[in-house]
Amino acid sequence: MVLTAGGFTLLLQSLGLSQGVFNPSPGSRSGGLPVDSKAALTSTDSSASPNGGVQVGPTGPSITDAGRRVSDAASECMVDPYDAYDLGNPVFPPFDQARANVYRYRQQQSVNLGSWFVHEQWMTPSLFTCASGDQLSELDIASGWGSLDAARSILEKHWDTFVNASDFEYLADIGINTVRLPIGYWSLGPAFCQGTPFEPVAEVYQNSWSRVVQAINLAGDAGLGVLVDLHGAPGSQNGQPHSGISDGEVNLFDDDWYINKTMSVLTFLMEELVNATNVVGVQILNEPSNADSLPAFYTQAISNMRQVSPAAESFPLYVHDAFNLAQYSDFVANRSDFVVLDHHSYFVFTPGDVAESASGHTKDIRGSISDSLTAASTLQRRNLVIDEFSCALTDQSLAGETAPDQARRDFCQGQMDIYQNLTAGWAFWAYDKEDCYDDPGWCFKAAVNRSLPSTFFSYGDRLIADPSSLSALTDVVSVATTSSQEEPTSMDAQSTPGYPSPSRFKPAGVPYGSTNLANEGFHTREDSDHLPSDPSERAIAKGYSDGFLTAKIFALYGMSKLGFTGQYITDSLARLGPDVIASGTEHYYVQWFTEGLADGEALITSDVANLS
Ligand SMILES: *[C@@H]1O[C@H](CO)[C@@H](O)[C@H](O)[C@H]1NC(C)=O
Ligand SMILES: *[C@@H]1O[C@H](CO)[C@@H](O)[C@H](O)[C@H]1NC(C)=O
Ligand SMILES: *[C@@H]1O[C@H](CO)[C@@H](O)[C@H](O)[C@H]1NC(C)=O
Ligand SMILES: *[C@@H]1O[C@H](CO)[C@@H](O)[C@H](O)[C@H]1NC(C)=O
Ligand SMILES: *[C@@H]1O[C@H](CO)[C@@H](O)[C@H](O)[C@H]1NC(C)=O
Ligand SMILES: *[C@@H]1O[C@H](CO)[C@@H](O)[C@H](O)[C@H]1NC(C)=O
Repeated sequence: MVLTAGGFTLLLQSLGLSQGVFNPSPGSRSGGLPVDSKAALTSTDSSASPNGGVQVGPTGPSITDAGRRVSDAASECMVDPYDAYDLGNPVFPPFDQARANVYRYRQQQSVNLGSWFVHEQWMTPSLFTCASGDQLSELDIASGWGSLDAARSILEKHWDTFVNASDFEYLADIGINTVRLPIGYWSLGPAFCQGTPFEPVAEVYQNSWSRVVQAINLAGDAGLGVLVDLHGAPGSQNGQPHSGISDGEVNLFDDDWYINKTMSVLTFLMEELVNATNVVGVQILNEPSNADSLPAFYTQAISNMRQVSPAAESFPLYVHDAFNLAQYSDFVANRSDFVVLDHHSYFVFTPGDVAESASGHTKDIRGSISDSLTAASTLQRRNLVIDEFSCALTDQSLAGETAPDQARRDFCQGQMDIYQNLTAGWAFWAYDKEDCYDDPGWCFKAAVNRSLPSTFFSYGDRLIADPSSLSALTDVVSVATTSSQEEPTSMDAQSTPGYPSPSRFKPAGVPYGSTNLANEGFHTREDSDHLPSDPSERAIAKGYSDGFLTAKIFALYGMSKLGFTGQYITDSLARLGPDVIASGTEHYYVQWFTEGLADGEALITSDVANLS
């Protein structure tokens, strides 16, 4: 089945049709501290490296002092015990291959859930007021607050409240379809802390993994996919506070023990997540240092993770480019499995970026940056995402603009246009932070309908109340509501036209192999009775039909579009095998799949426009 009755209800839910809309109002977090992270970032920009990501350097202003006096007085650091509700051992709903394929291969409009499971001082300063040491990293929180029980209360309360079901509904309602979820190895629980700097605080994390599973399920309830991102690896992959530690040391790559530990973290994640329908992938490392051994590390990690189970062989794995796009483009292009490159894009960290005007950045984005992303994406069959970007600009970049707000909007729009066209997805950093509404550069909730558009749908700028009202989708819906997979479907019943020659082949609006995605998750059904017997004609007809149908099926799932196009075609061809697409005719399948997909998407686009 394309969609069971339950699946269809879920689809409607993912469109926000059966749920109330969560409207965040400015000032809803007005109890927070008056932090101006833009100012903080500006003042530390010149010392920040491009590897720094979004973090305030150790020499940045003590923003925790801004609104609340940090004092040694015990009363300042008193923590109300928090009674974390018992989630037990939450499990994922039964695996659904057809839905998993849509989640994993679709175009992603995403936000990062930063500072939820991996803390960053500039985003959630209130958790750092009584942290220990340099008060910069997750480890400082866990070892601060006077006792392990107190630190645990602080963190558990944060896990249970910082992002909740209403947030996921809100995101789905405005067309966000995926979230990137940064976690640390400590998030996997006390066992994974043994032998690491987190060992003394291991018990703080006893309820942590159940919260991660719960987060994935809450996202799934709203129809959102989740990219689980290992932001903090044992030993640290980048020495940055956002990897969990404050000592600045990168110990992962030259220490076999840490490498082994990280491999066991990654294989655990694969074992646990491979059958989670809405998990779109695991990111092996966030922003690693480009150690000489990094490519070998990636190769080994991918190999270890793929060996976990047969299902793991085709599971999407994301690698970060260590700020060398060209080098890791080659790495991904060299592989045929579902490996995706993550490239991060910020414009505030280098002296050159600080000095450049906002409109200059926008011009670069639409010029040289677009060119280099085009080259990388083409090389990598579109297995490329920009999974951290923001609307942040320094005060200096905005100073020369006559209309700074408009300049920021143009800058954000330029990024989204380019990333959406040239890559399989983008993820804004970050969804929420303290004093969000003062920060439309970094805080998504504040940026929506201000620095960013108000909605983000792949098709059009609004919800389609009833997808079946789109004529392009109607026949797929009728398949969706047919209960038997063996009986000819309404589409099969119609699919008996003659087969035109390649040069004049056009769809009759009736795809071959109509329920393939539902049956196997891929286009495996031969329908050889219906397909032309000439191998070239067959590859053309099947390719066009599969592409056309794929556009429709993806649209049915929350108005999604295929995003990982090259990988999807490669994987479909592998499943079909030479009996269906004869060896030597694959290029016809690829070319005509692309044509069918484009025609299907154009039809849906015009239907959406006509509904408006
Ligand atoms: C989520 O948190 C917000 C406050 O941030 C609250 O208004 C809302 O009711 C919460 N929703 C759920 C489902 O708990
Ligand atoms: C790492 O694992 C490999 C193979 O599993 C093992 O041979 C090696 O001794 C381990 N190294 C350390 C430092 O534990
Ligand atoms: C995942 O699903 C496959 C097929 O449904 C099953 O064989 C495998 O045991 C499952 N793996 C896990 C870890 O649940
Ligand atoms: C790609 O593969 C070729 C041939 O196997 C190899 O020489 C090259 O080093 C690889 N490049 C990368 C970046 O892995
Ligand atoms: C993105 O692609 C669409 C459709 O091909 C095209 O009309 C548009 O100009 C492209 N936008 C950019 C910024 O390249
Ligand atoms: C966006 O903001 C404008 C005012 O700035 C307002 O009129 C409009 O209703 C808002 N749109 C949405 C979808 O919230």
